Amino acid sequence: MKALVLAGGFGTRLRPLSCTRPKMLFPVANQPLIDWTFRRLSEGGVDTAILAVNYMAEAIVRYLGPTKFDMGIIYSREERPLGTGGPIKRAGDLLKDEEIFLVLNGDVISDIDYRRIVEFHRERGGLATIALFRVPDPSRYGSVELDAKERIVRFVEKPEPGKAPSNLVNAGIYVLDRRVLDYIPSSRPASTEKEVFPKLAEERELFGFEARGLWVDIGIPEDYLIANQLLLSKTGAQMAEDAKIDKDARVLSPSAIGASVEIGADSVIGPHTSVSEHVRIGKGCRVENSIIFPGVSIGDHSSIRNAIIGENASVERWVKIESGSLIGDYAVIADSVTITQGVTICPSKRVEESILEPRQVM
Ligand code: GTP
Repeated sequence: MKALVLAGGFGTRLRPLSCTRPKMLFPVANQPLIDWTFRRLSEGGVDTAILAVNYMAEAIVRYLGPTKFDMGIIYSREERPLGTGGPIKRAGDLLKDEEIFLVLNGDVISDIDYRRIVEFHRERGGLATIALFRVPDPSRYGSVELDAKERIVRFVEKPEPGKAPSNLVNAGIYVLDRRVLDYIPSSRPASTEKEVFPKLAEERELFGFEARGLWVDIGIPEDYLIANQLLLSKTGAQMAEDAKIDKDARVLSPSAIGASVEIGADSVIGPHTSVSEHVRIGKGCRVENSIIFPGVSIGDHSSIRNAIIGENASVERWVKIESGSLIGDYAVIADSVTITQGVTICPSKRVEESILEPRQVM
């Protein structure tokens, strides 16, 4: 079985975090996002993964190479972004000998049983099957109406509040028949959600497979933090052998502490915190429910809650960062600054004054 993984999006909300690292390589529970997807595919019987890449493709190719978790990896490169449908058409030559194949958004973490959805697809005999998860608010996703035979009779992308057909949403995981390639236009960007699925639904060729369990679409900081929490709860505490934790510091489980991390006296780290390799945390710090990228330094008495700190950023002393804020690579947050409420600091910025309202500092 082959799987096409879409790994080329711009990722608007999380993009400012890093100028060197594509979203697929963002750490989740101290492992690159793409590793979680690939491990699951391999366990699900996939032998070849085709990765559709464009933006920062080289970094992904360098990291993954030609094989991973016993799967061969083929790269399908785009010169310009082709949306969510164009990459499927572009990889057509690599897929057309398969009767059916899997397609998935690379920024989704899920423990779906791939064998089960493939089996369901064969049983129903349609041209496409979409994995569905039930969510409280479907307005950010594609919402569907199912008939009694689990056929999708209506597919509405990003419905207006109150107008969603149901709380079952497109999980970004599909089984497609190769004939679906004929539904996608060539040589222009195309949207599977807006152009292909509504048409397949109209032709009664689209089915929905309701899955349960872990599913997070890593599109916004809050969901990135939730994915990190859930995977840390699943993996349990991780501690690198060479981490230097002061005897008067505490790491609350579940948290992941990477290689060569240093944590000073009286600091409390966790729960639900991922600290990547080569991070230095001073004395008396508090870091909770946060993701800290490699090489970050955090000065004495600083506190970070519900935030994401990009590679090599420097948080000085007595700093407070909270509430879904993003600090870009190499940014510097000066002594005593407070940052709250969904603030984004772009890479390499120096911030000297507190920011207490949601805004992006370019
Ligand atoms: P936003 O800009 O925040 O909407 O994020 P995104 O670019 O990641 O878009 P979206 O969430 O719609 O993307 C769904 C999946 O398709 C993600 O896994 C993206 O990586 C991927 N994707 C989006 N656009 C492209 C593209 O042009 N080419 C490829 N290869 N993948 C894409």
